[in-house]
Amino acid sequence: MKTLIYNPTQILTVNSEGKNFKRGKELSDIGLLTDHSIVLENDLIKDIIPTSKIDKRKFGNIIDASNKTVLPGLVECHTHTVFAGSRANEFRQKIAGVSYEEIAKQGGGINSTVQAVRNSTFDELVNIVKPRIQNFIKQGVTTLEIKSGYGLSFYDEIKILQVIKHLNSIYEIDIIPTFLGAHTFPPEYKNDNEQYIKIICKELLPYIAKNKLAKFCDGFCESTAFSADQIKTIFSKATELGLQLKLHTEQFNNIGGLKTAIEMNAVSVDHLEVISDNDINLAAESETVLVLLPGVSYFLNYDFAPARKLIDAEGIVALATDYNPGSSHISNISLIMNLAAIKMKMSIEEIISAYTINSAKALNVSTNVGSIEINKKADLSIFDTQEYSDIVYNVGNNLNTITVKNGKVIYNSEMN
Ligand code: NIG
Ligand code: FE
Repeated sequence: MKTLIYNPTQILTVNSEGKNFKRGKELSDIGLLTDHSIVLENDLIKDIIPTSKIDKRKFGNIIDASNKTVLPGLVECHTHTVFAGSRANEFRQKIAGVSYEEIAKQGGGINSTVQAVRNSTFDELVNIVKPRIQNFIKQGVTTLEIKSGYGLSFYDEIKILQVIKHLNSIYEIDIIPTFLGAHTFPPEYKNDNEQYIKIICKELLPYIAKNKLAKFCDGFCESTAFSADQIKTIFSKATELGLQLKLHTEQFNNIGGLKTAIEMNAVSVDHLEVISDNDINLAAESETVLVLLPGVSYFLNYDFAPARKLIDAEGIVALATDYNPGSSHISNISLIMNLAAIKMKMSIEEIISAYTINSAKALNVSTNVGSIEINKKADLSIFDTQEYSDIVYNVGNNLNTITVKNGKVIYNSEMN
């Protein structure tokens, strides 16, 4: 069936001319079109044509986008959406001055969410997470990454990945699963870290690969979590089994994670708040996407990643919420975009590229989604504004009004 996205005031194609990512200055070019409409055929973008040349009778389905702005469906490339419980008590400690690392050392932090997830059944987790997914869809997200990492045992990590698989089957959007068994050491292996790494390499990774339960293997390279050598061991096994790599690194301490991940061709390195000046070029010249998470710096009140330096050095920069209960209890994309503008000095155009084509590359799906180009998936977010700057300017307000996935309207604020 042919669908027409009729007469939007602006279309931001984020066209990358077949490259499927943007580096450095290219992030500023968002391919703005006016006086055009978009033709979809089934689940694909078929054409972008001047509105004056359109014969509306040829279309079975017309979505009136008059006075609106059309973007590629947003790609949210780093979240920990499957969690249970609340860490509001730790939030109290934090605002009273106790650091995130200190809370983790006292047995709180990630491990307190692990307790809550272990105490939740598959069905309970599904029900907790559903409204969170709907909240992303409402904001125009058409591809969403979700990590495990709050189970930290064979049974509970698999339970989380099964929850993600189930949610992917009931929602129209693509939910991409990432295995984050190497998030931290669970309490029972606090004094026997090597045994836990064995469980990851010998039990979890083979089972996950065999059952196709994750596309990516992620880890947390940090002095309170995994060393660069431990990450290397886990990543070697993951690569051997066909998983692709991502790494949380240079968040609080620089202990060699970035170099390890880039040497092992990770698809993305995420955080980079404390990346050293010497490593900026190494990161920026690589094919690895640099996923920046300004919500974390805001929520934990510490330094923001050096977005300007990374973009000026020609890096492939993406943005995400890092939605999780401890370090970024933020699922509001408009707020993340605004933080990127004000605190990391990214331009509005750079932010839009970072949340579409480059975040799609961070999930290795940018040949299919992330820009409005002919023969890409018909994934669109349609904003209730005639000027795209409003999306970033309206801090915390969701201006997305229609979400289109695979050519179908899956959210319309006027109907919901
Ligand atoms: O991306 N850095 C490690 N992991 C998460 C935080 C998880 C938590 O505190 O529960 C992050 O910031
Ligand atoms: Fe994270």
